[in-house]
Amino acid sequence: MTRPATLEIVPMDLDTLGQSKGSVAAFMGEGGALGGGAERVDALTNGAVGRFAASRAASRMKPGEARAIAWPAGMEAETVLIARLDADDDTETARRAGVALSRAGTGDLTIVADGRADAAEIALGALLRRYEFTDHKTKSEEAEEEPATITLMVEDPAAIDAEGLMAVAEGVFFTRDLVNEPANVLTTTEFARRLEALSEHGLEVEVLEEDALAELGMGALLSVGQGSASPSKVVVMRWQGGGDEAPLAFVGKGVVFDTGGISLKPAAGMEDMTMDMGGAGVVAGLMKTLAMRKARANVVGLVGLVENMPGPDATRPGDVVTAMKGDTIEVINTDAEGRLVLADVMWYAQQRFEPSGLIDLATLTGAIIVGLGHENAGVFSNDDALCDALLSAARAEDEGAWRMPLGKAYAKLLESRIADVKNVGGRPAGSVTAAEFLRRFVKDGTPWCHIDIAGVASTKGDSPYAPAGASGWGVRTLDRMVREMSGR
Ligand code: BES
Ligand code: MN
Ligand code: ZN
Repeated sequence: MTRPATLEIVPMDLDTLGQSKGSVAAFMGEGGALGGGAERVDALTNGAVGRFAASRAASRMKPGEARAIAWPAGMEAETVLIARLDADDDTETARRAGVALSRAGTGDLTIVADGRADAAEIALGALLRRYEFTDHKTKSEEAEEEPATITLMVEDPAAIDAEGLMAVAEGVFFTRDLVNEPANVLTTTEFARRLEALSEHGLEVEVLEEDALAELGMGALLSVGQGSASPSKVVVMRWQGGGDEAPLAFVGKGVVFDTGGISLKPAAGMEDMTMDMGGAGVVAGLMKTLAMRKARANVVGLVGLVENMPGPDATRPGDVVTAMKGDTIEVINTDAEGRLVLADVMWYAQQRFEPSGLIDLATLTGAIIVGLGHENAGVFSNDDALCDALLSAARAEDEGAWRMPLGKAYAKLLESRIADVKNVGGRPAGSVTAAEFLRRFVKDGTPWCHIDIAGVASTKGDSPYAPAGASGWGVRTLDRMVREMSGR
């Protein structure tokens, strides 16, 4: 498990600053202008910060960037970091300045942010970027280190919601760890165990086993896991922080590994399919954040945990399965499995909880990567108000999201000769036909958004707030969306 850095919020103090270990960070505005905090670091270093600020290197820095001054005289710190950040820069730039500070070094980080209105944003960026998945590195020094401390020096420590920031970081790190974890470790059983452990934070967690799922008639979900030795499960996580209003429901695709099943995927790159539980990972991280910050909202998170493997019991192309809703589905391609899982969990979520809104997340299609790359998740919705709430939260959180269309003509591509529907609609508009498949399992009158996160859940290179690998995309957006829809 990857622990975020410890966050300490302290009042400005020159003595402790001189004794700070690791890195000390201060800020420079346009034209090399030093704020109050940077001037104090300048005094300690006998003018080194001022000389840097007057340099050509400093004049070329863009807002949100940081540079290091190594082994400064007059301080115990190893480096002084100077970030360019103007007082009127937006929150996105402030967060990215925090990211730049975190990237510039390991170990303890003291951020001198007195007099800055954006101190919390800087700290959040720094916290989120200070992540490394080292659980399986036996020789890594980082793996042995205690989580570092990020110290935020501000005028009024009480004005910073440290617990709220940590709740977000803990949720994002939980998601990233789940997504980075290999499939031989994160089996369906281990996944359910890690979710049950969330009850420590006050979540009600319930695990439905295969017999219960069969009883409920979840033939679509069960057809995906039947080639695997790992049992299929549905986990329900409930957070009742509101009154008696209907909850918001989040549903995640949790395919712990996607071989494609009998419609086997090619070998090249198949190892990436360890992240095919990314939707479930985001739902899990979101629920952890909501619980840790004691959100005043009612939210239920459901995940369908299965493994898609070939085998003597595996579903065949051409098989017809029956979903909990009662619809029969012709499985043309066993690699279009995520929608089969979601169909049953979404239906169950609506039957049981009658949610005021339903949001599903899934690494659903390769086609969304063709369309949007790794910059934006694809958002599909039957409800403009819910969709706008989601998109505006994503914008505020600096997480890419872009609305995609739905339409009857796309749904028509899913007509089956022998069953009610088939599970693939052909190559054109692959992400849209996948979304149209899901729409069949949304009840009339339920506002719904489907988020295809295949391109953003995990990336080969660094993403804005994370190193290569799992990004944790969506936890912040959905947490904000819940906050804004419930008034906290
Ligand atoms: N899990 C994949 C989608 C995916 C691809 C996620 C790349 C992340 C990166 C999904 O189950 C899948 O295999 N989709 C197929 C659908 C097709 C068979 C209609 C695809 O996208 O090729
Ligand atoms: Mn697949
Ligand atoms: Zn898949």
